[in-house]
Amino acid sequence: MEPEEKLIPVYIIGEKVLVPEGSTIIDALEYAGFQLKRGIGCREGFCGACATVYRLPGDFKLLGGLACQTVVEPGMYLAQIPFTPAQKALYNIDELNPDISTFLKLYPEVFRCVSCNTCTKICPQEIEVMDYVNAIIRGDIAEAANGSFECIMCGLCTMRCPAEMAQYNAGLLARRLFGRYLTTRSDHLFARLKEMEEGKFDEEMKKLMEMSEEELKKKYTERKLDFKIT
Ligand code: SF4
Ligand code: SF4
Ligand code: FES
Repeated sequence: MEPEEKLIPVYIIGEKVLVPEGSTIIDALEYAGFQLKRGIGCREGFCGACATVYRLPGDFKLLGGLACQTVVEPGMYLAQIPFTPAQKALYNIDELNPDISTFLKLYPEVFRCVSCNTCTKICPQEIEVMDYVNAIIRGDIAEAANGSFECIMCGLCTMRCPAEMAQYNAGLLARRLFGRYLTTRSDHLFARLKEMEEGKFDEEMKKLMEMSEEELKKKYTERKLDFKIT
């Protein structure tokens, strides 16, 4: 700890502890001696593993966020949630129809949405969650896929939903259906796959496999790009 670092009180699972001001919830938990094995991943707001709920003093609301992105405040009440139990359907994407019938069969609870918008309010990705749920209810798979595209599967919407659905799993199914059935076929991808199957790149791949780490690094840094990185 730096000498000038200021400590603030927070409550972790009911116990008062002092943690450095400006810490994220993850850092505060670790500072207080908790070893996190579940409910933590990238620490950068991308993996969705660290969903958490908390309360602020004097505020009746139960708030939620990503523990690696939410900064502690004095008097905050914290409790880490390592996992959200949620309904996840098993399916073979090749046997499904890209329409409302699939959701009626696999995620019928989605149709119980009461349009309270609680899911949208808690989403750390600022996704219009209720809107993509409503797109599913209308059978607009493309809209549901696009609307849920930035979901990181943190589970916070599911924790708060009074209709007890797993929005993020239904959104994932919409994206899979969209990718499998509704997007334009990428002909250049299929052409490249055919070339690979015919062995066009076998020799080049063999050379790469035989290179040392240093040679690989050199080849990588000296490669010609056909696009500009900005
Ligand atoms: S839609 Fe739900 S699971 Fe996805 S990021 Fe938002 S709150 Fe998390
Ligand atoms: S929290 Fe549940 S019931 Fe409320 S709008 Fe979202 S999906 Fe619908
Ligand atoms: S640890 Fe990955 S989003 Fe927080």
